[in-house]
Amino acid sequence: MGRKLAKDRKPTDFSARNRTYLRAFWCRGPVEHAGPLRMLPQTLSLDLPLTGLIGALTHALDMTEGQPRGHSLRCCWIGMAVAKAAGLPESLHEDIYYAILLKDLGCSSNAARICELYLADDLTLKRDYKFVNGSLSQALRFVLSHTGLSHGLAERVRAIVHILQNGGEITSELIETRCHKGSDIAAKMGFSETVCAGIRSLDEHWDGSGKPEGLSGTAIPVSSQIALMAQVADVFQTSTTPEAARREISIRAGGWFDPALVSAFLSASADKQFWEDLASPDLERKVYELAPGRSTRIVTAGMLDHIAEGFAEVIDSKSPYTAGHSERVTIYTDMIAEAMGYSDEDRQSLKRVALLHDIGKLGVSNAILDKPGKLSDTEWLAMRNHPVYSDQILSRSTAFRGLTQIARGHHERLDGKGYPDGLSGKQISMETRIVTLADIFDALTADRPYRAAMPVAKALGILREDAGTGIDPQCLMALESVMERLNLDKAA
Ligand SMILES: [Fe+2]
Ligand SMILES: [Fe+2]
Repeated sequence: MGRKLAKDRKPTDFSARNRTYLRAFWCRGPVEHAGPLRMLPQTLSLDLPLTGLIGALTHALDMTEGQPRGHSLRCCWIGMAVAKAAGLPESLHEDIYYAILLKDLGCSSNAARICELYLADDLTLKRDYKFVNGSLSQALRFVLSHTGLSHGLAERVRAIVHILQNGGEITSELIETRCHKGSDIAAKMGFSETVCAGIRSLDEHWDGSGKPEGLSGTAIPVSSQIALMAQVADVFQTSTTPEAARREISIRAGGWFDPALVSAFLSASADKQFWEDLASPDLERKVYELAPGRSTRIVTAGMLDHIAEGFAEVIDSKSPYTAGHSERVTIYTDMIAEAMGYSDEDRQSLKRVALLHDIGKLGVSNAILDKPGKLSDTEWLAMRNHPVYSDQILSRSTAFRGLTQIARGHHERLDGKGYPDGLSGKQISMETRIVTLADIFDALTADRPYRAAMPVAKALGILREDAGTGIDPQCLMALESVMERLNLDKAA
């Protein structure tokens, strides 16, 4: 099917001026128009379990936390074993399961602030901070060894002094931002209040020394306690050994963790099979099979939309430079697609991929994303990889089948000078061209911390210069017709 016309809608309702403009582009460019367009899937089968969809997207969260891939899934496996060994009622299992998988949902929201405070790469810093046990000596060593390493001495000393003087407040601020944002996003996705509370209290400690509320004992949701314990266990077992992980959890009994849950962990992890399963390449499937209530949790179209919107918020929270970007790209994508006569069903699919086109940016450090100056070759290479990461993350779920190439191709150009694959002409689908145009249009017209928004007319002028070589003229014509109509609507 692909471009099926929306009911009662003409395929094009472009103005005469735009038709002339389009003809001019057809004649001028060396780039051939894409022949048969790559088709969007006619119907998106939603006969897929929620576990697979969430499990796939957790890979993006692992990247943002600087964790080895599969961290969230391994945590889920560890945590569910603890829940069972502790004899927790089965009615709690499902909430614990999703609270663990989504524990890092707010992880992107403090990334920019971490970079700013520590003058450091947020991915490395977050990864290494997970080894700090809360003692003053460890915290001090961490600050000294991670702050402003690539900066001048004066800047570095200033940053270190600031952190040491305001350490408590800074930690609270960073944790509060992360936990509250994560919990809010989970609520928007439609998860239960128990799941949200589990995410919100992830960094609380059994003895009351945690953040952000300083909750203690049974006031902390059991899912938070298990999720944090699973996180510590996985961080230590992946970087050292299972024995080191068991030792670390034991040391924190009564401090960070409920002693009863520590006993449950030690009992569950005493079996060699536990660690073999955790290292198994088949772990993902095992985690999905483990899902409580899995038979009833099938993703509906509405759920998929909410989850995509939630992850778009995770993406947009990563950098102040791109706040609201994914959402606006989605709106522009939809308006262009509508003007080009795409069906409602295809527009729905396009909106989902537009929401998630930059999900791979979660794997790029804010030291690069927010860098005010020119990127070095290495930094530029990391930046150019973000569409590849988007493809890799989305490809893990069948929910995005047929759409991943659009996410991968959103920085390609018709003349072959784009990235990551240097595709050209017919190799770039019309759907990809639509998202690309929406992406550039937003980059030009959005307010940025370092410059005011560019007027629409000026942005369209810049885009015209690139039509036929960088962007697709037909898509641009559709965008212009939309802008024209909006203007007319405004004037009416
Ligand atoms: Fe991008
Ligand atoms: Fe983008």
